[in-house]
Amino acid sequence: MALEERGEGIPLVLIHGYPLNRLIWESQWEGLSDLAYVIAPDMRGHGESDLTDGSHQTPYPFTMDILADDCAKMLDLLGITRPVILCGLSMGGYVSFAFYRRYPAKVAGLILVATRAHADSPEARNNRLRTIDLVQSNGVEAIVESMLPRMLSPRSFQTRKDIVDRAREIMLTSTVEGIIGDSLGMKDRPDSTGILNRISVPTLILAGADDQIVPRSETDEMRSQIPGARLVVLPEAGHLLNMEQPEIFNREVREFIEGEKP
Ligand code: MLT
Repeated sequence: MALEERGEGIPLVLIHGYPLNRLIWESQWEGLSDLAYVIAPDMRGHGESDLTDGSHQTPYPFTMDILADDCAKMLDLLGITRPVILCGLSMGGYVSFAFYRRYPAKVAGLILVATRAHADSPEARNNRLRTIDLVQSNGVEAIVESMLPRMLSPRSFQTRKDIVDRAREIMLTSTVEGIIGDSLGMKDRPDSTGILNRISVPTLILAGADDQIVPRSETDEMRSQIPGARLVVLPEAGHLLNMEQPEIFNREVREFIEGEKP
């Protein structure tokens, strides 16, 4: 498992979404490592991490439990025994729910970014199967070009070519097996709405006002069910709000860490 490690203090684990890698968090490890011990792994099958630990033949589903266990093993290998703040974007949020379910004592706080608690609808499951067909027949580039328009806000497409290019570049590093593994894992992920009202750690929810992937209604529902959760909606930001609005994003995370002292 490849990872970025910076700073010292409370461990802040940044879990990327799909089809991405740890490089989406560059502004966060630059901007937050004076305050926290920032750890940003490449999830299996992405960036520089291996596709399998040897116990699976590819392709296979990267279940949210497998990905959560990867994070727990990573913390063990780093010798981290104190509870951590988990910050998961989209699929990284699904992994955070799985981690919280499996290792509640290891979690000091949750930052849920552009994510949702519901499982896939039947329609979303069919779309996952279509994604798998598309990547098998037309390759990673076809997936990137179909997803990219929904990953960023209209403003980013109009005025921030650098962010659009960077997001495309990061997505293009994905592999066919990684995309299939994530798609199969997300397709059958469990519904996490049942645990929301039992979350007992400080929780910050960050969303992009122009997110085209996670509907605002699901974000609001999450906020209303997690006791004491704070929701901040970032303006002129889409699904990759941490890349599109890094200053506001980092300020909110900073205030959360300093204020809540989880
Ligand atoms: C992500 O950004 O991780 C994905 O859009 C999540 C999903 O497809 O459900």
